[in-house]
Amino acid sequence: MADITESPEWSALAEHQTVLAGRHLRDLFADDPDRAGRMTVTAGDLYLDYSKHRVTGETLTLLTALAERAGLRGRIEAMFTGEHINVSEDRAVLHTALRLPPGEALTVDGQDVAGDVHAVLDKMAGFAGRVRSGEWTGFTGKRITTVVNIGIGGSDLGPAMAYEALHDFADAGISCRFVSNIDPADILGKLAGLDPEQTLFVISSKTFGTLETLTNAKVARQWLIDGLGDGKAVSRHFVAVSTNAERVAEFGIDTANMFGFWDWVGGRYSFDGAIGLSLMIAVGGEAFREMLAGFREIDEHFRSAPFEANMPVLMGLLGVWYTDFFGAQTRAVLPYSQRLSRFPAYLQQLTMESNGKSVRADGAPVVAQTGEIFWGEPGTNGQHAFYQLLHQGTRLVPADFIGFAEPFEDPAVDGPAGMHDLLTANMLAQTSALAFGKTAEEIAAEGTPAAVVPHKVMPGNRPTSTILAPRLTPKALGSLVALYEHIVFVEGTVWGIDSFDQWGVELGKVMAMDLAPALTSQEPSSQAPDPSTAALVRRYRELRGR
Ligand code: F6P
Repeated sequence: MADITESPEWSALAEHQTVLAGRHLRDLFADDPDRAGRMTVTAGDLYLDYSKHRVTGETLTLLTALAERAGLRGRIEAMFTGEHINVSEDRAVLHTALRLPPGEALTVDGQDVAGDVHAVLDKMAGFAGRVRSGEWTGFTGKRITTVVNIGIGGSDLGPAMAYEALHDFADAGISCRFVSNIDPADILGKLAGLDPEQTLFVISSKTFGTLETLTNAKVARQWLIDGLGDGKAVSRHFVAVSTNAERVAEFGIDTANMFGFWDWVGGRYSFDGAIGLSLMIAVGGEAFREMLAGFREIDEHFRSAPFEANMPVLMGLLGVWYTDFFGAQTRAVLPYSQRLSRFPAYLQQLTMESNGKSVRADGAPVVAQTGEIFWGEPGTNGQHAFYQLLHQGTRLVPADFIGFAEPFEDPAVDGPAGMHDLLTANMLAQTSALAFGKTAEEIAAEGTPAAVVPHKVMPGNRPTSTILAPRLTPKALGSLVALYEHIVFVEGTVWGIDSFDQWGVELGKVMAMDLAPALTSQEPSSQAPDPSTAALVRRYRELRGR
């Protein structure tokens, strides 16, 4: 199969880039003042301004032609209809089915996918409702006030991010904590101050075989038994979310209290299903369903909007544009919302576990660069930390700014604007400064000494997307997550890779298990795989007096 980089569409983009590389966003706006009004897309609650990108109408035509060449339209349909597009695992990729509207049928590989999804959602809502109302109590009859989700990767980052994001909707007096790391500090810190009588553990693991999760779950089980003095308490305080009923039962959790999902949901695409149980307990079934409606709105838009007006398609193609034609290595995600503080971490797994691949789906090596490195922090904190590099560094870092019009609370402050307006003013000012900068002439005209002028020059021409939504509601959050899920899909399709496997994480897991005995045994560190690691093992043992 010919590589996409050999296509005429790729060559046309490469040639076009040589022209655009020499043009400043100041010129693009001067030549085409209407671009600000034109280069926008609305999808559900999300409004995207992409006018501050280093593109013209021609760029967009060439990029959408590349998407057509990559067969994006057919691939979208293949995903939504359950073809086995996860080729290395021979699986369908159906996270979009997790938010199918009630009444819409979908049968894949003989499974009533829609029926099964709604059955699990109903079961979750029933359980969440009982915990929230106090009908489901702990072993001693007290109501549950804290839910501890134990999981890692996709079984942690999604619900943890969403719980933080939807904090203002947690209305039942139940708070959540999230334990993921095998570092004992994590679980011990999260258990500190909790009352075992009022704590519910949700053990979340697709495979129910993940070392970190099972180890933390065992520590939690012992803590509970020690606290309540009776092993029978476990069944009232432990529930599971998994695809593996056998292992759940082996662990000692009643499978009646297990919430299932399926191998066609990737871990990093799963918090809108059963993996979202802790979130649902905190915010309620209704808010959860509103979140699903937000996902669905973007799914429908992605599936039906023409590429030139399709938000995930445009944002995915812009990612390809900078990664492959401008040599950009990273993309910053900068939410101007403290509630989205975990969103960049969540996106790191979603995007980098999906698209961090160097072979194509057919096993041939990729030729293009793949896998943007996602990173970020909420504004305005980032402004006082790393924005210096964004503004004046030598690297090109395209950035996504995400903001909301309405805050949940906005205390009165003395000054020209309220706190939320100041937050938004900062976001908009940053995108403008990044795009247009400030020239040496402008700086000199302010009376700056000549020797200082070069230090103050703001080069500009730094591309950004701005996403604005009315408010950080469950629906808006669902839309935002679906947007990035589909951006990943668009990029993966252009690069021709399987965005839904993650073989690269396996070797390290196996090696850690092989290595663990060497850290504790008195035997020479023979299990160490190489001389450097063997020396580190020896040093570690010395430090621990072993
Ligand atoms: O190690 C990577 C990974 O397999 C992720 O893809 C997944 O989200 C995470 O581990 C946790 O896996 P599980 O839900 O099976 O415990």
